[in-house]
Amino acid sequence: MCFFKLLIGLLATCAVVSAQNNTTICDTNSVSALLSCYNTYLNGYNMSLINNALPDYWDFHTIRMNWLEQNGIHVQPNICIMFRNLQKCVQPYSCLNGAGAYTQMGAYNSTEAFDWWLDFVVSQFQCNAGYNALMQEFYCISFCGSYHEAALDACSDQMHQQIANGTDVCVATQGFLDCHKNIITGCCDNLAGAYDCNLQLAAMNATVNPCINMGKLTCPSMAVKLPNKQPNFDAITKIRENLALRAELIHN
Ligand SMILES: *[C@@H]1O[C@H](CO)[C@@H](O)[C@H](O)[C@H]1NC(C)=O
Ligand SMILES: *[C@@H]1O[C@H](CO)[C@@H](O)[C@H](O)[C@H]1NC(C)=O
Ligand SMILES: *[C@@H]1O[C@H](CO)[C@@H](O)[C@H](O)[C@H]1NC(C)=O
Ligand SMILES: *[C@@H]1O[C@H](CO)[C@@H](O)[C@H](O)[C@H]1NC(C)=O
Ligand SMILES: *[C@@H]1O[C@H](CO)[C@@H](O)[C@H](O)[C@H]1NC(C)=O
Ligand SMILES: *[C@@H]1O[C@H](CO)[C@@H](O)[C@H](O)[C@H]1NC(C)=O
Repeated sequence: MCFFKLLIGLLATCAVVSAQNNTTICDTNSVSALLSCYNTYLNGYNMSLINNALPDYWDFHTIRMNWLEQNGIHVQPNICIMFRNLQKCVQPYSCLNGAGAYTQMGAYNSTEAFDWWLDFVVSQFQCNAGYNALMQEFYCISFCGSYHEAALDACSDQMHQQIANGTDVCVATQGFLDCHKNIITGCCDNLAGAYDCNLQLAAMNATVNPCINMGKLTCPSMAVKLPNKQPNFDAITKIRENLALRAELIHN
């Protein structure tokens, strides 16, 4: 079971990686085409393939995080333009449907292959269905995610305990989604809570998730919107520090 602590700047961490392992094998031509798509994408971050293979995922991640930290939400549209171009480019290659394709593209190991795939899945959400909510709630969610980190962690601890105690996995997972969402809603607003829940769900979908496939997990619609709180710009410096710290913690 994979769950995600952090929601912003694509810092989705998967506490227990159970990577989808049964993905379609890409043929040689598809792998070349996918690598070419990724090379263009990486060029947008002043990076490129290394020996015709993907670079270290965390090198890429760090560059994007630094860019966000230095410029804030203003660069999110650029991040999404580059990502949507990647999406268009890889769209013909349906074998890009799990970590396996990234192993074929030369990811360093299976963990990194999954990290690339998870990044793709989460970006897909953030740059499409979740985009407007992300643009509106970026600072509030960043701040609240840091401020309430312990409570958010407790949501996943509780889920694990419940599963260990024999609670149905889908019931426990829905409890996790609700617990997480309620904290973010209380700290920001309904839209932020809905965004958080839908992001968790999208990220869970990076692995084969029977609860999602059976339609047993639900989140509120992101269309439901109450007046949003103004971003607290005094908090932004703190957020940047937190993001930097978090990136470091995850990296190490
Ligand atoms: C793929 O997943 C199944 C079920 O989760 C597991 O039994 C199997 O060992 C995995 N295969 C590989 C190659 O990792
Ligand atoms: C794994 O691949 C096999 C062969 O293509 C397929 O029959 C099976 O349904 C797949 N399992 C999953 C969990 O996708
Ligand atoms: C890439 O390099 C250009 C030129 O130095 C710079 O303006 C831009 O911010 C860099 N992009 C990233 C994502 O660091
Ligand atoms: C995967 O590769 C990365 C980059 O070389 C390395 O930091 C990490 O420890 C490796 N992970 C595993 C599980 O081998
Ligand atoms: C799980 O069971 C233990 C032992 O009965 C209990 O102390 C704990 O509160 C339970 N946790 C949850 C989340 O239900
Ligand atoms: C999960 O993935 C399936 C298969 O790609 C897709 O049909 C479904 O819409 C996804 N669900 C979510 C919540 O992202």
